[in-house]
Amino acid sequence: MKIKVLTLFPRFYDSFLDTSIVKRALAKGIVEFSSIDIRSYTKDKYGRVDSAPVGGGAGLIEQLQPLVDCLRANKGPSAHVVFFTPRGHTYRQEDALRFSKMEELVLVCGHYEGVDERFLSYVDEELSIGDYVLTGGEIPAMAVADSVTRLLPGAIADASLEDESFTNGLLEYPQYAEPYEYEGKKIPDILYSGNHEAIAKWRKKEALRVTKERRPDLYRNYPLGKADRKLVKELEEGNEEPEWLKKALEKGRKFIKKD
Ligand code: ADE
Repeated sequence: MKIKVLTLFPRFYDSFLDTSIVKRALAKGIVEFSSIDIRSYTKDKYGRVDSAPVGGGAGLIEQLQPLVDCLRANKGPSAHVVFFTPRGHTYRQEDALRFSKMEELVLVCGHYEGVDERFLSYVDEELSIGDYVLTGGEIPAMAVADSVTRLLPGAIADASLEDESFTNGLLEYPQYAEPYEYEGKKIPDILYSGNHEAIAKWRKKEALRVTKERRPDLYRNYPLGKADRKLVKELEEGNEEPEWLKKALEKGRKFIKKD
């Protein structure tokens, strides 16, 4: 897949491209990334890309000519063009998944007080990454490039994607790494039981608990199955150690807890 970012600050992405999963995905040829300088397309003899808002007001507005010419020169025939603005719809994991199936994504970063409104007729979609105002679209474009790249086949192990937050409509269950005890805080014993069914059940219950507590909006839309409803009932009754958990803990293999 190709990701192209049109920006006034192309160097912004240097360290991003030189880091971790994105770096590996680039090296493996899973993704091609380029950041393109909008300013290099201006026809203004002083290199300007912006001017004062027509009708008066504060700040500078990005002009159409450099933006449109830069977009035309760089977008391929199958490109999907995204423009970042707090007025766009809020970016979600389902958008990342949708983008990850595309051949070419062109991410246009606005700056200053905004862009000429007419530019919006050249883009396919307007996106926001949250209800706050950034100085430009570079950070949103980086967030999109990162979240899309990690979903591309071969970028990370498929198993890592299965249970992660938002993918199945719930937040992710808690995860732990050795040591067993750290400053008095212990890893839940069930995770040492070797009972994969009970571990999966405990994790599902935790995912339900965390989502219900923190994101009631997601929880309301989650289609609870029969087994889920039982787990929710346990949560509501404050039953921390129901029979299935007790049994799994008693019968569980006694793993050595390394400290
Ligand atoms: N540009 C400025 N703020 C933004 C935001 N929250 N999301 C997307 N683009 C932006």
